[in-house]
Amino acid sequence: MKIGFIGCGNMGEAILKGLLESNVVDASQIFVHTKTEQRREALKKRYQINIENSNHLVAAQADILFLATKPDRYEQVIQEIKDVLDQSKTVISITPSFTLKTLGALVDHKTNVIRTIPNTPSLVGLGMTGISHEETVDKKTLNLIIELFSSFGEVMIVSEDKLPILSSLSGSSPAFSYLFMKAFVDYGLANGFTLEESVKLISTSVVGASQMVSTQNFPIETLINNVCSKGGSTIEGVNSLQENHLENLVKEALDKTTKRFLEMMKEKN
Ligand SMILES: NC(=O)c1ccc[n+]([C@@H]2O[C@H](COP(=O)([O-])OP(=O)(O)OC[C@H]3O[C@@H](n4cnc5c(N)ncnc54)[C@H](OP(=O)(O)O)[C@@H]3O)[C@@H](O)[C@H]2O)c1
Repeated sequence: MKIGFIGCGNMGEAILKGLLESNVVDASQIFVHTKTEQRREALKKRYQINIENSNHLVAAQADILFLATKPDRYEQVIQEIKDVLDQSKTVISITPSFTLKTLGALVDHKTNVIRTIPNTPSLVGLGMTGISHEETVDKKTLNLIIELFSSFGEVMIVSEDKLPILSSLSGSSPAFSYLFMKAFVDYGLANGFTLEESVKLISTSVVGASQMVSTQNFPIETLINNVCSKGGSTIEGVNSLQENHLENLVKEALDKTTKRFLEMMKEKN
């Protein structure tokens, strides 16, 4: 199996690194082209993958092809590679912008297309990828795609209409978490802790809290209450966040990311 990347920036590299570190594929099986030589050289040096001089050369060799450019390049790069696409290949979109129907039309229905919403924690093997596909994609191909994405995280297959919300919940949420964590790190720094200590304290606690949410059968409210002893210190902080309407702020941010996702789809379909 050969895997191609047309473009390989933040998200492409997260997938590429995730695949290599899981040992599901070897560097010799990966073929990449990006716009700038500088980036191509950096990727070659970092991962010892095959670097090609054109998108066409990548697409001609790959069985599975990640379109990892920004959406404004999709039409152009698909034009460049269209003549080498056929039923033996699978094209994977990682962008919000194009529906399966539009992607299918762009590739002249010559090949399988799969729509995914990955996220950047794939870089450390803890990704979360939403996948939508047309009914016509055969089981073998689908299982292979699931295996690839599962090698660096979790996978959820959803109907296409659910992708905008899924994208807010898992594609965008890492950025919200970083913002939240940054406030803790800054607080540590301002109060006598080093950067390393502050990062360790908050990141370990967030990983622990995530595990509690995903493995314990409690509602999240119970987990909150379990940390908030009456008359204790935590309850003061939780009350303050609630008085300042943290939940409304988060819902508003999620509405905005979902709205933008839908706008991006409207622009391209
Ligand atoms: N970042 C995230 O957290 C995230 C999460 C989910 C989905 N996505 C989606 O992933 C896609 C890529 O986002 P990103 O953040 O990875 O963008 P990015 O860091 O800007 O990477 C874009 C890549 O495309 C390459 N490129 C541009 N024009 C090209 C061309 N004509 N042919 C070949 N390669 C070309 C660039 O090459 P150079 O580096 O050489 O310029 C770069 O490697 C977007 O559609 C985004 O919506 C991102």
